[in-house]
Amino acid sequence: MAEEKKPCLCGSGLTKIYGTGVQKNVAVDHVDFDCCQNEVISIVGESGSGKTTLAKMLLGLTKPTEGEIYFQGKKRDISNMKKKKEYWKRIQAIFQDPYSSFNTFNKIDAVLLDCIAMRNGKKYTRAKKIEIMEEACCFVNLEFDELTNKYPFELSGGQMQRLMIARVFILKPEILIADEPTSMIDACSRATILEMLMKLRKEIGMTIIFITHDIGLAYYISDTVFIMERGKIVESGPAEQVILHPKEEYTRRLISDVPKIHEEWDLSSVKYG
Ligand SMILES: Nc1ncnc2c1ncn2[C@@H]1O[C@H](COP(=O)(O)OP(=O)(O)OP(=O)(O)O)[C@@H](O)[C@H]1O
Ligand SMILES: [Mg+2]
Repeated sequence: MAEEKKPCLCGSGLTKIYGTGVQKNVAVDHVDFDCCQNEVISIVGESGSGKTTLAKMLLGLTKPTEGEIYFQGKKRDISNMKKKKEYWKRIQAIFQDPYSSFNTFNKIDAVLLDCIAMRNGKKYTRAKKIEIMEEACCFVNLEFDELTNKYPFELSGGQMQRLMIARVFILKPEILIADEPTSMIDACSRATILEMLMKLRKEIGMTIIFITHDIGLAYYISDTVFIMERGKIVESGPAEQVILHPKEEYTRRLISDVPKIHEEWDLSSVKYG
């Protein structure tokens, strides 16, 4: 559980509408949302329920059609590029498709050097920068020497996911939004990635917003869970309360859709209602 209950990111009435007229699609519908420092929260919902759209609004990549976002107690202001860049030092993301997150023409060391520059590392010597890159690669079990001359598309899905975590290791943001970060990898690497994220959270007191279809995983890693259905948060609260005592039919369905949850976490005795 979070030791310190200080709200760091809040959304009020967040709404995103794509298209107009018959094409109108309310992807996120008046969502109220808050998370506290050092907390792990999960947003769980079926495909198309609006999770990534909500994440993009929180990150400042998509403008809300309606609603406000509050960051560290103040109304978020990312009205110009300078403010946006400041914001992105403090809130970072790992996306569903890691290949879309990197500029294909930049080699791996350039990707990591960019992060060092963002973290005010312009004053570092070349040797210091290499030391930081090596430390980050070591944290995620990647061989820095093997990677330096490669392009992101030359990496496997798992290596790519780990490279994204190496970026987070260098940037040390206050908040990390992880949108299905383990979708492209096998179960074993998945556990390693989760372990790395949890270790980072502990080391730098990072808040993690985890987006997933997998309610079993949400139960395992989060303090608080938000259940999302067709753009709305239909249920939220402490992970144990929401998952062991779901109130909504939709939440029950998400639980029953994950057969392994009963085996791995023995929720077979869950009493609904
Ligand atoms: N850029 C866009 N333009 C138009 N519609 C969009 C756009 N992005 C998302 N949508 C629509 O918004 C809705 C929510 O999509 P979103 O990607 O947020 O869902 P999701 O919960 O992340 O799904 P998944 O679990 O499959 O990743 C969907 O109906 C989708 O088609
Ligand atoms: Mg998504």
